[in-house]
Amino acid sequence: MASEWALVEAGVTRVGLGTNRLTNTPGNQAFLRDALSAGVTFIDTARLYTGGESELTIGAALAPLPEGCIVATKGGYSPGEGRPEILSAQIEESLHGLRAEEIGLYYLHRVDPETPLETSLAVIRGYRDQGKIRHVGISEVGIEEIERAREIVPIAAVQNHYNLSERRHEDVIDYCAEQQIMFVPYFPLRGDGGPALREIAEAHRATPSQITLAWLLKRSPTMLPIPGTLSPKHLRENLAALEIELTEIEYQALA
Ligand SMILES: NC(=O)c1ccc[n+]([C@@H]2O[C@H](COP(=O)([O-])OP(=O)(O)OC[C@H]3O[C@@H](n4cnc5c(N)ncnc54)[C@H](OP(=O)(O)O)[C@@H]3O)[C@@H](O)[C@H]2O)c1
Repeated sequence: MASEWALVEAGVTRVGLGTNRLTNTPGNQAFLRDALSAGVTFIDTARLYTGGESELTIGAALAPLPEGCIVATKGGYSPGEGRPEILSAQIEESLHGLRAEEIGLYYLHRVDPETPLETSLAVIRGYRDQGKIRHVGISEVGIEEIERAREIVPIAAVQNHYNLSERRHEDVIDYCAEQQIMFVPYFPLRGDGGPALREIAEAHRATPSQITLAWLLKRSPTMLPIPGTLSPKHLRENLAALEIELTEIEYQALA
């Protein structure tokens, strides 16, 4: 089984940008260009976000992508969409929407209950072999599925639901750290840290969202959160969370 640590070795900033509310407006295109100048190097999207507009906006605003910037997208979300002909069509649509010759990271968005994950991942591997996908990821999976996936193609990233309130995937986070696979928590800010979160934020003169991100970053060296925002102010606050070091006591108060 191969492991891939290439994304972080390549210097990707460990706080990315989620784009599941991005619509294709001139303002949002300008927002994306501003995000890159602020230091974002990792943008998360999916074929289905905002009916395809998220990918189109990213393509229109940022293509050709500057060196070192990764756009991650996903396909195969709904039952039946892991079938080879459907997944291939979605990959082609993503390449077109992003105006890219190669997708930096492509996730199987969900394991299709109607298609063996090996079959879906073989399709993605085929695009990787052609140089149209650089790295491969998988979303909302347990360790057993990740190990099956790694028999088919090297897995660079796992994207699962995880935040202060949603802790189902602790074992997956540990596995990813051991195996040097990036763990990308989705809905990173939607948890509830209670009064402790507010107290720690005050002590650091930071916002609760920043402390939440600092807590995620301390949880695992291969954690890379993708907070979703359309606000330039929030985007900068999220990147500034990279500078916050929580003490062990603060970390444990939220753990
Ligand atoms: N793999 C999957 O199945 C899956 C599922 C869901 C989501 N995702 C991905 O995960 C990303 C993150 O999820 P999400 O955006 O739904 O949830 P989230 O990142 O947990 O929270 C986003 C919310 O937090 C606010 N926010 C962001 N930064 C903030 C800050 N510094 N201070 C205060 N509020 C802040 C945003 O509003 P503002 O715009 O006002 O900042 C928005 O209301 C998505 O964009 C998507 O790319 C993946």
